[in-house]
Amino acid sequence: MPDVESAAEYTYVRVARVEDLPSGERLFIEINDLPVVVINLGGIFFAIGDICTHDEGPLGDGEIEDHHIICPRHGAKFDLRTGKALTLPAVIDTPAFPVRVNEGWIELGLKTPDSQKPQ
Ligand code: FES
Repeated sequence: MPDVESAAEYTYVRVARVEDLPSGERLFIEINDLPVVVINLGGIFFAIGDICTHDEGPLGDGEIEDHHIICPRHGAKFDLRTGKALTLPAVIDTPAFPVRVNEGWIELGLKTPDSQKPQ
C-alpha cells in the first residue's frame, strides 16, 4: 500500500524513491487498475498511461524523441507532458499524471473525487 499525501486538487501517491529511477529509466506500475509508465528524462519525471489509445498496445516501451513517445506497434506519437495524441493512428489522448518529487520520493498526482464534481 503506497503512502498517500493529500494536496488541494490532487492526492499524491508515492511510487518509487528518486534513486531507484535513474535518468533514462522507466518504471511500470498500476494506478487504480490502469497501467502507467513513469519516465525519468534527464531528471524530469513524466507519467502517462501505458496503453496506446489506438489499439491498446503497450506504449511505455516506445522510443522517445524530445517530449514525445512513439507507440512501438503502429507509430502513433503522444506528448509525455500531457498525454495528447499527436499523430495517427491514435486520435484519443492517453491519461497523463502530474509528477513531483517530495522528500526523495517520486509522487504521482491523482485527481481527488471532490475536484471532479461539477461546480
Ligand atoms: S497500438 Fe499504438 S499506434 Fe496502434
